Amino acid sequence: MTGLYQLIYSSIRTPSCTDAEIEDILRSCKRNNSKEEITGILLHSRNRFIQYIEGTSEISKLYEKIKLDDRHFNVTLLAYSPIEKRIFPSWQMGFKDIDKLGFYTSITEKDKIVFNNMIKGDMPEIGIGISLLKKFFEKA
Ligand SMILES: Cc1cc2nc3c(=O)[nH]c(=O)nc-3n(C[C@H](O)[C@H](O)[C@H](O)COP(=O)(O)O)c2cc1C
Repeated sequence: MTGLYQLIYSSIRTPSCTDAEIEDILRSCKRNNSKEEITGILLHSRNRFIQYIEGTSEISKLYEKIKLDDRHFNVTLLAYSPIEKRIFPSWQMGFKDIDKLGFYTSITEKDKIVFNNMIKGDMPEIGIGISLLKKFFEKA
């Protein structure tokens, strides 16, 4: 049986990466992730990405491909580990714009600090990191 893994990375959005390109990334996710049974979420802002990916070992291949994408740079691996079950089973790749009004105002100051550090590459304990991503995804 093939095991399940999770992977989290953050990166800097290339200044020339337009919103139309974000739409294009979303289309790629829809096209490819369901085929490979990959689920997860992608949070983006004007200048950052943070993505949580889960699935079989296929996710390492996807990560290698994503790393080469010139719509972002400074791709930093924050976590890669086996998991028992999926956290986002119903999202081929949930997309959220974290600059949207209401996002940063609806979370606590403490969560904001931990999240901002995480997006810059400073990963907290994995359980904390994932529950923050989940919380942020649900609120954004
Ligand atoms: C931040 C970011 C996240 C991405 N996430 C995914 C993803 O989850 N799945 C995917 O297939 N492509 C993703 N891509 C796009 C890939 O780098 C690549 O362009 C795409 O998979 C090519 O798809 P195609 O071979 O179907 O044209 C992402 C790109 C960026 C910049």
